[in-house]
Amino acid sequence: MLSKVGVAYGTTNGSTARIAETIAEVLRKEGVLAEAVPARLVTDIESYDALVVGGGLYAGRWHKDARRFVRRHGRALAGRPLWFFSSGPLDASATEKDIPPVPGVRRAMTRLDVREHVTFGGCLEEGAKGFIARKIVSSGKGGDFRDFGQIEAWAARIGTELVSGAPAE
Ligand SMILES: Cc1cc2nc3c(=O)[nH]c(=O)nc-3n(C[C@H](O)[C@H](O)[C@H](O)COP(=O)(O)O)c2cc1C
Repeated sequence: MLSKVGVAYGTTNGSTARIAETIAEVLRKEGVLAEAVPARLVTDIESYDALVVGGGLYAGRWHKDARRFVRRHGRALAGRPLWFFSSGPLDASATEKDIPPVPGVRRAMTRLDVREHVTFGGCLEEGAKGFIARKIVSSGKGGDFRDFGQIEAWAARIGTELVSGAPAE
């Protein structure tokens, strides 16, 4: 019997946290005990039977908290059902097509036998941290491109897979 799923995330501006919380909520609705946790605060993953790990994308890499999490817990992660997600594109591309993982994430997926990865649209709005972030927003290229319908559907498939023990169609 599956007891608990951890949804660990790396974020700078909070938008990936909201995605992780949505995933955990959907899993709970599917009857799976789940919690979203900032990756940098997780010291031990022994209490999780399965994990979803996600990171915002910065300059072609996962957020450092997500990278460190995967490095630190590699051995334990490899023995558990595991899914990855990324969040980044500031346009509709992630809703319109599958965006492959960035190279570092792809390598970790192979190493850890990750079941699936998805890239969700990102979000960058007024008040974002950092010079470049503020530049993007002030030049009109920011916005919220997260597709919560897409996020919920993906999480529901994970829930089905965890509850049934077989990959969802
Ligand atoms: C400095 C900077 C670099 C970024 N680099 C990328 C990138 O390489 N690829 C991408 O898809 N999105 C990129 N983005 C967009 C972010 O991934 C997007 O805003 C994401 O939602 C941030 O997640 P967070 O709010 O959880 O930190 C970048 C944003 C900033 C501010």
